[in-house]
Parts: sequence; C-alpha cells; structure tokens
Amino acid sequence: MISSLKTYKTVTPDQVKVWFNAAPVSKFPKNGGACIKYKDKQIAVFNFTREGRWYACQNLCPHKMEMVLSRGMIGEENMEPKVACPLHKNTFSLENGKHLNGGLEAIATYPVKVEGDIVYVGFSE
Ligand code: FES
Repeated sequence: MISSLKTYKTVTPDQVKVWFNAAPVSKFPKNGGACIKYKDKQIAVFNFTREGRWYACQNLCPHKMEMVLSRGMIGEENMEPKVACPLHKNTFSLENGKHLNGGLEAIATYPVKVEGDIVYVGFSE
C-alpha cells in the first residue's frame, strides 16, 4: 500500500477520542525519536528530554514521501521545537507541523501524554 499524506491529519488535544498505548518510556531514546504504528499510520514520537516534553508527528516526510522523520534530529529554532528530516534536512515544527525552511505542506502532529511509565498518543479515530 502506498502511504499517502491524506492518511495524516493533525489532532488537537480537544479532538482526542483514543489515547493509544504506544510503548514504555524506555523505548524512546533521550532527545530522539522512535516510530510507532497505529492502524495504517506510522507516527514518529519524540522524547525531547532537554525540554522535558514529548511530541508526535507523522513519520512520513512530505518531501520525497519517505518514512523517516522518527530518525531525524530534534532541536529548537527561536524557541520552537523542530525535527530535521535525516535525508535532505527539511525541518518541521513539532508544535504545529509547519515546514520551517521551505514551502512544503505542514506535517500532521498529535498529542502525547505520559502516565506512569507509558507513553500515549492521541488520535481522533
Ligand atoms: S525526504 Fe525528507 S527532506 Fe527529503
């Protein structure tokens, strides 16, 4: 099946209907990401230890439609958390998915919460 950008749509905290049990905290590298699967979606989840925050976005980079964003470097630009695609360094905001160094379509972002030792990602369906 060819993954399509249409599979991914940003979910805001008030739209969450399902908190998906993604994995224990220990499965996510500090200041790095890992990929999880929910239904037909691949989601990149980031443990931004430096900020003490968690983020999730589509794993699909809209540049060449590669499932790679979970392997991207994370950092900050003007206080905005971002991920850089490991292939050609397009960078996206982890807050709102905006493409920060060009005109690509924004990526979808998802709410994350940690309860106990478990990381949950919020989905609307
Ligand atoms: S595939 Fe991500 S920047 Fe090119």
